[in-house]
Amino acid sequence: MTNHFIRIAVAASLAIGAGAVQAQEPIKVGLMLPYSGTFADLGKNITTGFKLALLERGNKIGGRPVEFVTVDDESDPAKANENANKLIKRDKVDVLVGTVHSGVALTMARLAKRSGTLMIIPNAGADELTGALCAPNIFRASFSNWQTGYAVGAMMAKKHKTAVSLAWKYAGGDEQTAGFKEGFEKGGGKVLTHLSLPFPNTEFQPLLTQIASLKPDATFAFVAGAAQVNLVKDYQAAGLRDKIPLYGAFLTEGTLQAQGAAAQGMLTVLHYADGLNTPRNQEFIASYKKAYGVMPDVFSVQGYDSARLFLAGLDAVKGDTSKLPDMIKAMSNARIDSPRGPLSFSRSHNPVMDMYVREARGNQNVMVGVAVKGLVDPSPECKM
Ligand code: PHB
Repeated sequence: MTNHFIRIAVAASLAIGAGAVQAQEPIKVGLMLPYSGTFADLGKNITTGFKLALLERGNKIGGRPVEFVTVDDESDPAKANENANKLIKRDKVDVLVGTVHSGVALTMARLAKRSGTLMIIPNAGADELTGALCAPNIFRASFSNWQTGYAVGAMMAKKHKTAVSLAWKYAGGDEQTAGFKEGFEKGGGKVLTHLSLPFPNTEFQPLLTQIASLKPDATFAFVAGAAQVNLVKDYQAAGLRDKIPLYGAFLTEGTLQAQGAAAQGMLTVLHYADGLNTPRNQEFIASYKKAYGVMPDVFSVQGYDSARLFLAGLDAVKGDTSKLPDMIKAMSNARIDSPRGPLSFSRSHNPVMDMYVREARGNQNVMVGVAVKGLVDPSPECKM
């Protein structure tokens, strides 16, 4: 009798002991982002946004602390395989978060799909990520290139009849341009021609000369990061700004200070606007400023929402990441009160959200209207 009791007591304490050890085991988050090169600031802001959502939860979910493993992907598709494999195979992360550059993200998604590792995309817009490559374990908390291009096109069609598009020749540029064309032409506009240059080239002059001679009513452009400063400044210096207005999705994002007068008054369309006047966004701004001493931007919001989506999964299983199917179910159905507005996910795990018209005023892209409400990427290629 006594022996029996002791045996039960020992077994129980071992079980509690094992449970406690597992509870202490950190939840591993692999951040694969650009911390150098043209997208370095984007990577930094995604990281601070992501970490803020976890800080707000005391960095502990279901008793497990959260640990970060960080890799600089350099926006280099040639290094993507090795970098992603480090996180998946060596570090065995519970979630792979990345990245900014679409080409790098495509490689990451292929590996995530093969290994079954949970992946959250905090920026890269490649349509394929939630299109042909879609998978139950792959989510995007940012936008698709189709979505941003389409929304800019829809807005421009209300003001202009003809346009020229200009973009970097890579997945990000090609797809934003295709979305733009669809939105612009559906609204009654006509795209005269498309001009491209290699990523991350910034020799815009020859293309600007072509635009001047084509004389469209307006120009749509996609380049990003540091390069958008050159484009917006060169466009003004070429004397085009007042004759042929320049539009884009990201063109003035995070670079208004560097772009100076050349960007003032420019209209862009994105899923966030600086200082968006909603209680939820004001609360987010206060929290972000308190933690980092600076204002958040759309990339901070995308990082934050990526973490909120992960948290929706973690909370459903009380931090037990071995229950991946339950996490995926909760993430698919998540309704996030994002700083950008209500955020949910389509059948292909792409964001469903409002697209705002913003005007560059001082150092802010201020909301001046809604281009498209609750925009869903139809993701025709996604079969799952
Ligand atoms: C992309 O490669 O998909 C991309 C990069 C930077 C942006 C937006 C999209 O600002």
